[in-house]
Amino acid sequence: MDKFKNYINGEWVEPVSGKYFNNISPANHDDLIGEFPESNIDDVNKAVEAAKEAFKTWKLMPAPKRGDIIKKAGDIFVRRKQELARIMTREMGKPTFETEGDVQEAIDTAYYSASETRRLFGQTAPSEMFNKMNMSFRTPIGVCGIITAWNFPVAVPSWKILPGLAAGNTIVYKPSKESPHSGVIFAEILEEAGIPKGVFNLVLGKGSMGNMIVEHPDVNLIGFTGSTDIGTKIGEICGKMNKKCSLEMGGKNAQIILDDANLELAIEGALWGAFGTTGQRCTATSRLIVEKGVYEEVINLLKSRAEKLVLGDGLVKGTEMGPVIHEQSLQNCANYVKIATEEGGRLICGGTRANEGNLAKGSFFKPTIIADVTVNMTIFNEEIFGPVLSVTKAESFEHALELQNHCVYGLSSSIYTRNVNNAFRAIRDIEAGITYINAPTIGAEAHMPFGGVKGTGNGHREGGWTVFDIFTEWKTVYIDFSDQLQRAQIDNY
Ligand code: UN1
Repeated sequence: MDKFKNYINGEWVEPVSGKYFNNISPANHDDLIGEFPESNIDDVNKAVEAAKEAFKTWKLMPAPKRGDIIKKAGDIFVRRKQELARIMTREMGKPTFETEGDVQEAIDTAYYSASETRRLFGQTAPSEMFNKMNMSFRTPIGVCGIITAWNFPVAVPSWKILPGLAAGNTIVYKPSKESPHSGVIFAEILEEAGIPKGVFNLVLGKGSMGNMIVEHPDVNLIGFTGSTDIGTKIGEICGKMNKKCSLEMGGKNAQIILDDANLELAIEGALWGAFGTTGQRCTATSRLIVEKGVYEEVINLLKSRAEKLVLGDGLVKGTEMGPVIHEQSLQNCANYVKIATEEGGRLICGGTRANEGNLAKGSFFKPTIIADVTVNMTIFNEEIFGPVLSVTKAESFEHALELQNHCVYGLSSSIYTRNVNNAFRAIRDIEAGITYINAPTIGAEAHMPFGGVKGTGNGHREGGWTVFDIFTEWKTVYIDFSDQLQRAQIDNY
């Protein structure tokens, strides 16, 4: 069995404790992927120290030169795309056509970030005084601790790490314990691209190690994607330490289908939004809100299509939906189904583990649809992170919007309608960071702002140009060439 290492200060090193943990495939529990370092505070200290030292020179490198390295990393992701997709599928389960898309998102982010190193624009503004100039420009922040989930094991870390590096920061990266191999490949790719030693460090380990990074006084910024529980705790610690943090957390995203929608398209969108990545996306469609005229028709169409989805090992061609990440997640889905039916939900399909043939070897949960869900039911309100879709009837367009906004989260949203006025009203009135018109709740593109309102995050937007608002801070400069003391607000009025 393969034994993996941390990547600290440009070297592949064993964990100081000498301890390792095993990772198995969610599609086949007999498939042991490897042993991964169970790092502790000693490893974190080493990584942070290396990143702190490397920051001194990395921040001075001309940004376009940093961009050259990131562009090269993008080229290597292209070269290794298929191979990397198989590694990702083996450790987190989604089919290879999806993991290839995941890698593509990293490629897009690499090329976007690299090109942005030739802009990273600041601003100039006139001074209120004679013979004086004002300007502001972006400066890097320092050592960034990056902590991410397993569901997009390459794309999501790339959204943080690559622009973070482009802006001149150095990185200590802790991937999820469910997808450590993808983290190793990320380090291999940056190493081959020529990242200088200490600029990027990989520390593998279990959840508690993330805290050590968050609490480390020499880590200047935290970028986190994961559960609302953990993210909120990170926010509290960072708040106390006056540390900048960007939190990307839960979602309970709704797709609205109005009576006038193209139903075939809306059904296709709902299935992809709800069961793509086995429903394990922060952008997943977990609530379907259907106007009353097409309510039963939508449920029937969904049922017949969902029951035909091909479950299986994501490495096998033809698989449409992979496993959930682990047994605990499977139990969680089963629990929510139980609560939903007890609270009055109508089970349309699924609701149980799938264990026919080879499926018995892994953690497979059938695509599940529960109808007649109302606002106060648990399943309408809590994030499940699995292939469980609730369906709620709306009396009108206005009611559909009300239902959509009845939510503690606000990441993604979608509406299917052919009425242009209603589409624009939805764009204006839906409380979410992202709204799709006639497209599912999933499918964000790397060069656009990504993030949510309410309980989903703390106001930051990754992706696109807005990510640089996270990974830089502003330096304001006044240049006085008057050769005399000019007292602002006093001498000029
Ligand atoms: C996530 O689930 O954390 O828009 C990110 C999407 C993907 C990213 C999902 N491009 O669904």
